[in-house]
Amino acid sequence: MKKVLVATEKPFAPAAVAQIKEVLDKADYELVLLEKYSDSSELLKAIEDVDALIVRSDKVTKEVIDAAKNLKIVVRAGAGYDNLDLDACTAANVVAMNTPGQNSNAVAELAIGMAVMIARGNYNGKAGTELRGKKLGIHAYGNVGRFVGEIAKGFGMDVFAFDPFVDKGLIEKDGVNAVNSVEDLYSTCQYISLHIPSNEKTKKSIGYDLLNKMPKGGTLVNTARKEVINEEELLKLFAEREDFRYVSDIAPDCKDEIAEKYEGKFFFTPKKMGAQTAEANINAGVAAAHQIIDFIENKIETFKVN
Ligand code: 3PG
Repeated sequence: MKKVLVATEKPFAPAAVAQIKEVLDKADYELVLLEKYSDSSELLKAIEDVDALIVRSDKVTKEVIDAAKNLKIVVRAGAGYDNLDLDACTAANVVAMNTPGQNSNAVAELAIGMAVMIARGNYNGKAGTELRGKKLGIHAYGNVGRFVGEIAKGFGMDVFAFDPFVDKGLIEKDGVNAVNSVEDLYSTCQYISLHIPSNEKTKKSIGYDLLNKMPKGGTLVNTARKEVINEEELLKLFAEREDFRYVSDIAPDCKDEIAEKYEGKFFFTPKKMGAQTAEANINAGVAAAHQIIDFIENKIETFKVN
């Protein structure tokens, strides 16, 4: 019997685990569950004899891959796979996949939800502002960016996007204004929603010069990765611009300094929460289980990333 380890430091909703189990049961696969583990040694032990691994943002390092004796495939139930050591997977002949699109609506709803929250002064009882009529810039028009655009249009926002990898015609077809450069996007929009992946090219790429282009009331919404922000320059911007606001579901390392000095100008969720809905967990978890079975039984490699 093939064994599938679901290792989630931040667990899926119980309904998602139940549905993953159902899919695996039907294929005669065994589900091994490791939730809320606090030490990587627990993962190293649990992975020893399994054939497949499903994770969320859990770090799949070379050490983890090396500890696995039978591992054939690891699926990141989600979009960003910066938590997987792809070289280690490839070297060990382990296929790595993600499940693009499956949790995107949840992330988009949180992005707009946090924009509303900060516009209303974190619900402090004082008069806030509205999103209607404001300009929103979507930085990277992928699965999440598209949903953000759709929801923002419902709010009556004027939506813009920049993505060098997406045909401008496709962006415009969605009723979104495609701009020519990242600088254009930031200088046009009061709200920016960030959706770039974290990789060697994008790490620390969002810094002072770009953020300072934002018009008065500039608000950065980050549901992407904290690593893409240049935190030193973020603090410089906070210090220079009283109007600047930053909301994120992945708090920066400098969160204490921001909290100490800039009350009411930020909001950070206590844990990464963009994809933390039952629906997103079910969609991504079940997709991951199907992808594992399809790969092991039929060598189907859709969504392979290594
Ligand atoms: C993703 O890349 O899919 C999101 O950041 C969600 O991450 P999570 O599964 O850890 O919530």
